[in-house]
Amino acid sequence: MGRLLALTFLAVAASARLHSRDAPDAFSKPASKALDYVDPFIGNGGDSPNGSGGMIPSTAPPFAMTRWVAQTRQNYVSVTPYNYTDSSIHGFQGTHQPAIWMGESGQVVVAPGAGTVQPEFEKRGMGFSHTNEIASANYYSVILNAIEGGQIHAEQSATSRVGHLRFTFTDTRTPYVLVEATRPQVVGPNGPTNFTFPHGAITIDPAAREISGRNPERQDFIIGPNPATNWSGYFVARFDQEFTSYGTAQNGTVSEGKTAGEGALLSGFARFKEGTKKVDVRVGVSFISVEQARANLEKEISDGTSLEQTAEQTRTQWAEKLDRIKIEGATQEQAEVFYTGVFHTLQYPYEQEEDGKYYSGYDDQVHEGISYTGYSIWDTFRAEWAWQILLAPERISGMVQSMLQDYKEGGWLPMWKNIVETNVMVGTHADSLVAEAVVKGFKDFDLDTAYEAVHKDATVPPDDDWTTSYFDREQNVGYEVRAGLSSVYASKGWVADDIHSEAASRTLDYAYDDYAVSVLAAALNNTDDAAFFRARAFSAPFSIFNNDTGFMEARNVDGSWAGQDQGWTEGDMWAYTFDVVHDVPALIQRRGGNKSFVEFLDEHFDGGHNDHTNEPSHHIPYLYSLAGAASKSQERIREVAKDNYNNSVNGLSGNEDCGQMSAWYVFSALGFYPVDPVSAEYVVGTPFFDKVTIDLPGAKQPLVITSSGAPKKPYIKSVTVNGRELASPILTHADIANGGHINYEMSSAPQKWSSSTLTQDKRYEHIEL
Ligand SMILES: *[C@@H]1O[C@H](CO)[C@@H](O)[C@H](O)[C@H]1NC(C)=O
Ligand SMILES: *[C@@H]1O[C@H](CO)[C@@H](O)[C@H](O)[C@H]1NC(C)=O
Ligand SMILES: *[C@@H]1O[C@H](CO)[C@@H](O)[C@H](O)[C@H]1NC(C)=O
Ligand SMILES: *[C@@H]1O[C@H](CO)[C@@H](O)[C@H](O)[C@H]1NC(C)=O
Ligand SMILES: *[C@@H]1O[C@H](CO)[C@@H](O)[C@H](O)[C@H]1NC(C)=O
Ligand SMILES: *[C@@H]1O[C@H](CO)[C@@H](O)[C@H](O)[C@H]1NC(C)=O
Ligand SMILES: *[C@@H]1O[C@H](CO)[C@@H](O)[C@H](O)[C@H]1NC(C)=O
Ligand SMILES: *[C@@H]1O[C@H](CO)[C@@H](O)[C@H](O)[C@H]1NC(C)=O
Ligand SMILES: *[C@@H]1O[C@H](CO)[C@@H](O)[C@H](O)[C@H]1NC(C)=O
Repeated sequence: MGRLLALTFLAVAASARLHSRDAPDAFSKPASKALDYVDPFIGNGGDSPNGSGGMIPSTAPPFAMTRWVAQTRQNYVSVTPYNYTDSSIHGFQGTHQPAIWMGESGQVVVAPGAGTVQPEFEKRGMGFSHTNEIASANYYSVILNAIEGGQIHAEQSATSRVGHLRFTFTDTRTPYVLVEATRPQVVGPNGPTNFTFPHGAITIDPAAREISGRNPERQDFIIGPNPATNWSGYFVARFDQEFTSYGTAQNGTVSEGKTAGEGALLSGFARFKEGTKKVDVRVGVSFISVEQARANLEKEISDGTSLEQTAEQTRTQWAEKLDRIKIEGATQEQAEVFYTGVFHTLQYPYEQEEDGKYYSGYDDQVHEGISYTGYSIWDTFRAEWAWQILLAPERISGMVQSMLQDYKEGGWLPMWKNIVETNVMVGTHADSLVAEAVVKGFKDFDLDTAYEAVHKDATVPPDDDWTTSYFDREQNVGYEVRAGLSSVYASKGWVADDIHSEAASRTLDYAYDDYAVSVLAAALNNTDDAAFFRARAFSAPFSIFNNDTGFMEARNVDGSWAGQDQGWTEGDMWAYTFDVVHDVPALIQRRGGNKSFVEFLDEHFDGGHNDHTNEPSHHIPYLYSLAGAASKSQERIREVAKDNYNNSVNGLSGNEDCGQMSAWYVFSALGFYPVDPVSAEYVVGTPFFDKVTIDLPGAKQPLVITSSGAPKKPYIKSVTVNGRELASPILTHADIANGGHINYEMSSAPQKWSSSTLTQDKRYEHIEL
């Protein structure tokens, strides 16, 4: 999902890696082979003209509430706080921006300095070089050239709710640290053209060596139905050194000795004794209150904890996940892409609860319970959720429960929750998340509420459904949910293009969501509903299939065709014509059967229509397998992997989208992919490595995937699961989730296995099928 990045920039040649991943020994404990491959700069996109990837070299544990990152730019929608092309660092930011194309919320910035206090962003930047940067999952460090001379070595680690920084001053003037509460807030998707000035607060307590405060910035406040009036990010920064002097700064003016301030463009600072070498600061963050931020600080990184200890704690949490996976036969580059990919898949959604309580922006109240936010569900329902179900099953019920709380407090399941609902993208794919969790055995949440919530998605249209278009990021509208349900999806099968934006994409998305509702209804023995939604799910997609062209096409309310380029979001008629993941056989039939469908796929790929940078294309290479041409899936998957992933700063061709780009790579490398997520089935692709062993948290035995020779042999001769021969290219969730042995016999030439359509085709006679 990257439309908002469509700004033109000069292309900069991809640069070789200059930074290091080798942290000092004290920050490399415990030993972890997997973590040594993680490079947090992969996919930053800094060098790419269109800002692909959008990942930042942040430190924090898995699913952390706050991620800490060196700040090279002011971030807003389509701009991340760290960009590899920049040459100065302006502080260290505790960020809650979950993806490049979403807004920041309640961040706090800690900026070291020496000499004259520089509160303003533009003036406080310090030069650095990538060769003096070290980045790993649990530790980041950089050497900054202090403005008035000397150097500041900045080091950073973090727990979920607390950032831990250490600044070492060499040959500098008087050391100080500034804590920024508020800055100019960029509103809307059009870049720095529209500013507001949020009013925050700063309090300085020299006796406690604390600077605390609040920042109500929430860049997405103008989109989405929930005002979240009382939203703020709160913080408490606690220092290990005594303050020799201190003050506040407001709109560039420094007030010495002042201990409190409120308003816009506000910071607080503390100076330390001349000659101070090291300053250690921990910054507790909360969405509830300053008191809670302090409690979080004391709970997660108590007084006297060293940066080394914090880094070890965080590294242990990553190692607990990543070292579960062992790969053999990968190149260094593939191992870096793979493990960094896994690292990316375990960052979002992020923890929103603190000590068993959470702030809810839906009703502006604090509640008891577990909560998560940062849900890019339009992207993550495809494969990211399936991957989290396998590797982080202990969190799945809590994540579903959190969505049900959103439903109770706000009236609907989330679509794109960034603190609160933002209405970004289309469809109610939370239906898919809930149904997939249930069919994969998770039920530690209220099933009745779950069904009530998805049923509402499928049956209740949004406000003003005939008069509001619900275009992307439309302001001052209610919950978007299934816009067009009443006009006219529920009665005729399509969303009318002359009434709603993105109507053809919506039609296909709603049809899949109906299928998810039917799967959940069936799992709950509600057979009537299951039949009703199943019928609608299977008929709706073909209500926009134009027999004359063979492509999906948007329709108007009166049934007339709207034009082939109308009504798509983040894709075109090529990608979307393949988008009936729950009924591929019917799609194949409409396109004239297997042989003709395979030709259509060839035309799609050979014509350059496959756009892996965006999610609607992700499942397409797997469709050959479902049309009896598995060997062609195997070729295309290898090509897509090679063309769209590498271990450079630009190594993700599209936005990471909260882990979906990497989830595609990780599944593909294992040799299967969840084309239809709620089916609890996976389509076989082509494993990349000789052997992968995964110690899945939910399984009694490890999952061992052997595919000897795979690095050089992309084709599959046969597959067995625990000795059972696989006749069709389908693995079930049980085949994988219970552990066991999947063996692929690989070959360097195309094979007959699951490729009967090709064996009947004269054009492939020259290939030994
Ligand atoms: C980058 O953006 C420009 C302008 O929107 C567009 O023309 C170009 O195709 C994009 N390039 C890539 C590689 O996406
Ligand atoms: C980083 O900055 C460069 C140069 O301004 C720009 O082309 C690129 O899109 C930016 N990348 C991201 C991820 O914002
Ligand atoms: C600018 O921000 C204001 C909120 O302060 C908002 O009402 C307005 O719609 C924004 N304009 C644009 C073009 O985004
Ligand atoms: C918002 O905060 C104000 C001031 O703290 C308080 O008076 C008000 O009740 C709060 N609103 C809600 C909905 O809790
Ligand atoms: C900051 O100060 C400048 C003048 O120095 C003034 O024009 C501007 O309005 C001030 N901004 C805010 C948010 O107070
Ligand atoms: C659905 O029916 C089956 C068979 O009667 C039963 O085993 C299962 O417990 C039922 N499930 C629910 C959620 O009621
Ligand atoms: C399109 O073709 C299908 C069968 O392939 C048929 O059932 C349907 O009626 C046709 N639609 C129209 C509008 O002709
Ligand atoms: C098309 O291929 C699939 C997958 O091999 C197979 O199950 C199906 O029977 C084939 N359809 C026809 C009409 O041959
Ligand atoms: C890495 O991938 C990006 C995105 O697909 C691409 O632009 C770049 O050329 C690739 N770099 C190398 C060295 O392959």
